[in-house]
Amino acid sequence: MRTLKHLFEQNRDWAKAISTRDPLFFQKLSTQQAPEYLWIGCADSRVPANEIVGVLPGEMFVHRNVANLVIHTDFNCLSVIEFAVSVLQVKHIIVCGHYNCGGVRAAMRDMRLGLIDNWLRHLRDVHQRHRTELDAIADENVRVDRLCELNVIEQVVNVCQTTMVQAAWEQGRALAIHGWIYSLTDGLLHDLNVGVTNASEALALSNRNH
Ligand code: CO
Repeated sequence: MRTLKHLFEQNRDWAKAISTRDPLFFQKLSTQQAPEYLWIGCADSRVPANEIVGVLPGEMFVHRNVANLVIHTDFNCLSVIEFAVSVLQVKHIIVCGHYNCGGVRAAMRDMRLGLIDNWLRHLRDVHQRHRTELDAIADENVRVDRLCELNVIEQVVNVCQTTMVQAAWEQGRALAIHGWIYSLTDGLLHDLNVGVTNASEALALSNRNH
């Protein structure tokens, strides 16, 4: 109970397996990281960023929170984006949601849960904005899944509007923002085809979405 021994055992096995394949792996990584991707995803335990895209430690910078939200005043997420864009100089920012997201479902049901209601308020705003389309969907699961998609698109727009991303584009840097969604039932990713590579595309996506 106090030591979680099995996790340390599994950690040793994991480190050994990697070192067997590449004896210098950890030594090389310990001196620097140069990931090309920033992943912004849901905190859900079933959506482990590195694993589902098959990348090793060092290849992806990761930020996760409930329902993969990018809030303009969330200094946690904004600091991650700033470090990734300005220091690590990532080339891609991936906002990845997932179907059947508990946070999205809770927001849609308008339940009272506590502190998190304030966080989920952002999702309720997205819901409100797309009310007509969502209300026309009779099945609740289908409706939740559609809001999961709409939320990803909304967060892609939010990433594009950050001062860090805008500045990178003003400097002519190659930086693409992607909107993906993951299916818990088959482990597969789907591209929502809302990729943005410059400020005018960002504006077009924002206009299309509101
Ligand atoms: Co989720």
